[in-house]
Amino acid sequence: EDLLSGPKPLAGLKAVVTSGPTHEPIDPVRYIANRSSGKQGHAIAAALARLGADVTLVSGPVTIADPVGLRTLHVERAEEMRDAVLSALPADIAVMVAAVADWRVATSAEQKIKKQPGEAPPPLQLAENPDILKTIGHHPERPRLVVGFAAETENVEDNGRAKLERKGADLIVANDVSSETGVMGGDRNRVRLISHDGVEAWPDLTKGEVAERLALWIATQIG
Ligand code: CTP
Ligand code: CA
Repeated sequence: EDLLSGPKPLAGLKAVVTSGPTHEPIDPVRYIANRSSGKQGHAIAAALARLGADVTLVSGPVTIADPVGLRTLHVERAEEMRDAVLSALPADIAVMVAAVADWRVATSAEQKIKKQPGEAPPPLQLAENPDILKTIGHHPERPRLVVGFAAETENVEDNGRAKLERKGADLIVANDVSSETGVMGGDRNRVRLISHDGVEAWPDLTKGEVAERLALWIATQIG
């Protein structure tokens, strides 16, 4: 059954979606990153486009293809991702799915760092990255609907609710990424929707099914 065929409830609305990891360079050949395939974020961008939205997908480095029917902006670092998201405003809908690296290397090296025989490994000085979801959630041009994700390994609901408040989001899609669940890199996802109305637990679904249901949820909220 195709949940997204038929009318286009998001026609005339603009959406911005982030997906994938960010890569924070240590030097020209090394980087810091979170695990993320981009499968969930790309599927959500595609589902919103199929419901008629004008979608800008801001993607970190991933191996999967750009979805059809929307524009994809490719970025590497969190600061580039933030700038690309801001360039897509004003928008009606924001869905921040990217696994943004929380820290970058404060001063990345311009040349490859070489091992020095007999010396200790180089220390890495980290700086905090901008929180893109929080920036959007408190922005003067805040989209009408702001959705974030929460990757948690424990206390999924409490941590998700805290993120909802702190980041100024309307919805947090929380998933348990503890290693035995296989969410990371896999094709399935089990999520809980945390909003100001409460918590809704969805069954185990494919990432495509989560994307379709979320796009329909967004359409009912914004309609
Ligand atoms: N996020 C973001 N920019 C960041 C960090 C996170 O936009 N610099 C977004 C993610 O895309 C996601 C949400 O914030 O939608 C939650 O990300 P998560 O990593 O779970 O939360 P953090 O606030 O970074 O907290 P922590 O990693 O400490 O749990
Ligand atoms: Ca984080």
